[in-house]
Parts: sequence; C-alpha cells; structure tokens
Amino acid sequence: MKRVNVVKTSRVLVAALAVVVGSAAAAMLPQAQSTSSLEQRIAPIGKVRVAGATPVAESGSQQARAGDAVYKQFCAACHTSGVLNAPKLNDAADWEPRLAQGMDTVLRHAIEGYNAMPAKGTCGNCSDDEIQAAIDYMIAEL
Ligand code: HEC
Repeated sequence: MKRVNVVKTSRVLVAALAVVVGSAAAAMLPQAQSTSSLEQRIAPIGKVRVAGATPVAESGSQQARAGDAVYKQFCAACHTSGVLNAPKLNDAADWEPRLAQGMDTVLRHAIEGYNAMPAKGTCGNCSDDEIQAAIDYMIAEL
C-alpha cells in the first residue's frame, strides 16, 4: 500500500516537472527568435498592385520628399540649435570633421543612428535617399 503511494506521488512530481519545463521552454521561445523572423511573421500577408497604377514605395510615400522638407519636419529640432552636439545647419566647423569620415559613413550613421542621433533622425518611413537629401540640405551652403 505504501509503495503504491510513493509511485503515485512520483508520477505527480514528474507531471508537475514536465509542466514547469514546458512553460519555461515556451517562455524562452520568443527571445530565441531573431527580430527579422518576427518581422516576417507580423508582415502583411499580401501586397496589392493595381494594374496601370504607379507602384507606391515601401515607405508609403507617393514620391521622395525633398531634403528641405525632411529636414524641417524631422531634423530641425536638433540640428538647428545643435542639441546634444548635433552638427548645425550649414555650420562648416560642425560638419567638416564629420564629412572627413566620408559620406558613406555619415549616411550610415544617420540611417542606423549614432550616439544621441536617433536612427533615421526619427523619420522612420524615410528612404535612404530621403535621408541623404536631408543631409545634402544641411551642408548645401558650407
Ligand atoms: C533628437 C535629436 C536629433 C534629430 C531629430 C536628428 N538628429 Fe542627427 N544628430 C543628432 C546628434 C546629437 C548628432 C551627433 C551625434 C554624435 O556625434 O555623437 C547627430 C548627428 C547627425 C549626423 C552626423 C553623423 C556623423 O557621422 O557624424 C547626420 C548626418 C545627421 N545627424 C543627420 C540627421 C538627419 C538627416 C536628421 C533628420 C532626418 C536628423 N539627423 C535628426 C541629433 C538628432
């Protein structure tokens, strides 16, 4: 009789252990997956293309915004007064050491973010070309 009880108890323990291990594994699963696979899973199922219509850019904008428009809407808040050491609009002393890195590096920093410079300068739906245009606008009068 006592032996049966022991067997029953250990069965319950094994079942409880399985539940704990199972839920721990489930809790760990989302962390193990990369952001890109997450993005794939939450992406829209299909994209509609209407015959004869001009394809709309991934960013959702109809056509590329001009550099000054992007600058005024997204970059001016920091780059006009030089918040947190942001290189100021058309300020040669601010820009020269940065441009010395090469435009590829400067553009990459603007797109990916760099210290207090937020990725894409907070213009999340800006294309790389629109970011480049905004940079060109900021250094046009150097
Ligand atoms: C929240 C403030 C903020 C906004 C908004 C912002 N920037 Fe910046 N940006 C900074 C700061 C701060 C730096 C300097 C970062 C450093 O050198 O540590 C910087 C640096 C840069 C640089 C120089 C990168 C380098 O390699 O030296 C570029 C180019 C740039 N920003 C472009 C832009 C563009 C384009 C926009 C708008 C689309 C924008 N920023 C919006 C704060 C901002």
